[in-house]
Amino acid sequence: MPSPSPRFWEVFFDVYEAIPRQGPGSRDCAACALALCGPLPSAPTILDLGCGSGAQTLHLAELTNGTITAIDSHAPFVVTLERHLAERGLTGRVAARAGNMAAPPAAPGSVDLIWSEGAAYFLGIEQALKLWHPLLRPGGHLVFTEAVWLRPDPPAEVREMWAKEYPAMTDIAGNLALATRCGYEVSGHFTLPDSAWWDDFYHPMERRIAALRPKYAGDSEALGTLASIGGEIELHRRFGDTYGYEFIVLRRGN
Ligand SMILES: C[S@@+](CC[C@H](N)C(=O)[O-])C[C@H]1O[C@@H](n2cnc3c(N)ncnc32)[C@H](O)[C@@H]1O
Repeated sequence: MPSPSPRFWEVFFDVYEAIPRQGPGSRDCAACALALCGPLPSAPTILDLGCGSGAQTLHLAELTNGTITAIDSHAPFVVTLERHLAERGLTGRVAARAGNMAAPPAAPGSVDLIWSEGAAYFLGIEQALKLWHPLLRPGGHLVFTEAVWLRPDPPAEVREMWAKEYPAMTDIAGNLALATRCGYEVSGHFTLPDSAWWDDFYHPMERRIAALRPKYAGDSEALGTLASIGGEIELHRRFGDTYGYEFIVLRRGN
């Protein structure tokens, strides 16, 4: 499979840098996942890995008194998050850093909570689970969202899309079994509601695509990229009951 062209990424980021989040999620879902962790230390040390422009970083800052380090490899997302942190007076306890979530800046056993929405699969879930486990203090939590099959028999169109996007995608049971094999206890999990796909992700993305079409008029490659991003939204509209995002809350045993 050829990798996308530089032009593809230019148009892709023209869409993704202008929307509130870069994957499904919501403040309510973050609050539910946090509740599944049970009591945290009063000022937990938190890593938010693959933070994007930081929608969930800001939720975590509101929902906890934690000291948060948010990391993303795409520097423009980090710049956006830094701006939001400054506007909200949060720079004292929340830091945004451009970097690689495969090597977070944290000592072994020092982190109370690792959070990663829609990003762990970039490393491969097994690799992420293994890399991040030693960073947690015993009893610390890893909370992440992951694309999963919700039905064993998805239509061919959906299977084809995910075969291109994420061929290793599995189901909820597969993820939980993997987590257990990697030394975690499962504290809980739930499927994100459809509103978490639309409110801050696909609806803003549809508006952004519509706004960009005049900019790229006559540019067939760019318009093709916009159409392909829009196609993913249409597929979700038609077949969103066959796959979803699962919030998975894990605990490092002692
Ligand atoms: C689907 S987006 C999710 C962003 C954000 N958590 C959200 O839900 O809105 C995945 C993010 O992971 C980041 N990413 C991918 N590989 C990374 C790596 N090795 N280190 C740091 N960030 C990475 C991407 O730049 C992207 O912002």
